[in-house]
Amino acid sequence: MKILVTGGAGFIASQIAQAYLGQGHQVFVLDNLSSGHRDFVPTDAQFIEMDILDPEVEKLLQKEKFDAINHHAAQISVTGSVRNPLNDAKTNILGTLHLLQKAVESGVEKFIFASTGGAIYGDQERFPANETHSCNPYSPYGIAKYSAEHYIRFFIKTYNLSGTVLRYSNVYGPRQDPDGEAGVVAIFCKRILEGKPLIIYGDGEQTRDFISVRDIVAANEIALSPQCHGIYNVGRGEETTVNHLAESLAHLAGATAGIEYAEARAGEQKRSCIDPEKFNTAFGWRANVTLEKGLFETLEYFKTLGN
Ligand SMILES: NC(=O)c1ccc[n+]([C@@H]2O[C@H](COP(=O)([O-])OP(=O)(O)OC[C@H]3O[C@@H](n4cnc5c(N)ncnc54)[C@H](O)[C@@H]3O)[C@@H](O)[C@H]2O)c1
Repeated sequence: MKILVTGGAGFIASQIAQAYLGQGHQVFVLDNLSSGHRDFVPTDAQFIEMDILDPEVEKLLQKEKFDAINHHAAQISVTGSVRNPLNDAKTNILGTLHLLQKAVESGVEKFIFASTGGAIYGDQERFPANETHSCNPYSPYGIAKYSAEHYIRFFIKTYNLSGTVLRYSNVYGPRQDPDGEAGVVAIFCKRILEGKPLIIYGDGEQTRDFISVRDIVAANEIALSPQCHGIYNVGRGEETTVNHLAESLAHLAGATAGIEYAEARAGEQKRSCIDPEKFNTAFGWRANVTLEKGLFETLEYFKTLGN
């Protein structure tokens, strides 16, 4: 297949682009490098430095006639979306809509979208939440992802597009930005390797459903198949407290700097955990990377950066 991967200079999609190349697909990466890195783009992929809102996107899609678009380019900071909802909506709603419209006009058959299981359900009533759980996103980031999902449904119905929405839980692994606001595992790894204490906001008993980027890449391989359309949670379905995460990482690294507690962040979600059973039943996908193994791999990656 000829596939356009947006956001392919970033943490997750650069690894998806690499996997698609490994499967023998022809891969183009489109990224404006706002947070991505040129050197993350696989060498065998064709790189286009462009914003998803750029009018040139239309020409590109008309010229290349992609079979599939895997859309990961986004403004990814939840707190950033709270500070500047308009900026978030420009990229995450209008940017996605722009791509969708130009995709169907150019005959793209498959559209894969990276959504969020962590921010779309809001305060959960059930643990883990499956796809039928009510969606009450309270951050502009979650609202924008939910809006984009609605647009995708519109394009599926109206234009017979095959759309696959993957709602990820908290993704971690090599290449995550340790200076960003999103990836607590990457932030903790960096602080441990700098010999600094880990800072936990609140009592550390807040939970997240951490999943390795390797399992997310495997889900995106499945998502390419014509049988895979609709909305799927992609998580482990297991809750881990931030305290447990910090202790596990510190233990793995033999860190001695300890843990410090700071005031809880206003509005932070207390518990988050999503049920991947639907994806598992339909396609046999299961998260294979244990938390311990995934944390070890991530720590090793950050060690190599320091050398
Ligand atoms: N990391 C997670 O835990 C997580 C969880 C759920 C969903 N997601 C989604 O997965 C996707 C990838 O996230 P990530 O963690 O790899 O983040 P990332 O910041 O590493 O990757 C995003 C990429 O998109 C690019 N980009 C941003 N705005 C763009 C624009 N307007 N035009 C072109 N390129 C643009 C950036 O330069 C970057 O390379 C995002 O859609 C994110 O919302 C991530």
